[in-house]
Amino acid sequence: MGMDSGHQAIEKNIGWMVLLVILVVSVGGLVQIVPLFFQRATTEPVAGLKPYTALQQAGRDIYVREGCYNCHSQMVRPLRAETERYGHYSVAGEFVYDHPFQWGSKRTGPDLARVGGRYSDEWHRIHFDNPRDVVPESNMPAYPWLARTPVDAASLPGRLRALARVGVPYSEEAIASAAEAVEGRSELEALIAYMQVLGTSLKPAGHPVAAKP
Ligand code: HEC
Repeated sequence: MGMDSGHQAIEKNIGWMVLLVILVVSVGGLVQIVPLFFQRATTEPVAGLKPYTALQQAGRDIYVREGCYNCHSQMVRPLRAETERYGHYSVAGEFVYDHPFQWGSKRTGPDLARVGGRYSDEWHRIHFDNPRDVVPESNMPAYPWLARTPVDAASLPGRLRALARVGVPYSEEAIASAAEAVEGRSELEALIAYMQVLGTSLKPAGHPVAAKP
């Protein structure tokens, strides 16, 4: 056996096998992941990035509540087929204020990372009320109640404060005026405001956001 015997002993002992696999995977993980916490490209916002407005943030919370991420990713990969379809690939600095991020991986529907500005507000209004009215073959659910449900304004300042605590630069003023800023707006308006800002912080020359289909 000679040289093999050590290897064989490990292969035949599931305890050692599990332990050593965990060791190897964690070293690999540390080497890949830990440096990301210290790289400017992954920790600093891209130049145009602004915190979501109160209305956009309310829309983002509705996006999470409704589980839109079960069918939509928000992450354009750096592959030709994706950049041709969606626009510039996603970069880490675009998501610095996203807590929790909505990258996802399930794509029953299209990626939404750069959907901002692709359609009119009116298109979204019809689409959320009944997707089949604009895309006949769509299997996306309808969300007709959003139009008649007012945004939960009262809890919004607290939600912005929580985000400020994890590093989103909301001023005291922005937090204090958040409830007023969304007063009387519907959940539909909030969700559309969120859709329209997605991916708009990064528009480098020569990489226009994908054109309207
Ligand atoms: C069951 C899966 C499913 C769920 C859940 C879902 N969608 Fe969709 N969505 C789709 C599919 C499929 C399409 C493509 C057909 C269409 O445009 O309706 C789509 C299209 C879209 C589009 C147009 C994208 C483009 O580039 O053309 C937007 C915007 C969108 N969805 C937003 C949402 C939001 C916001 C939610 C949550 C409130 C949501 N979707 C929930 C499946 C889903």
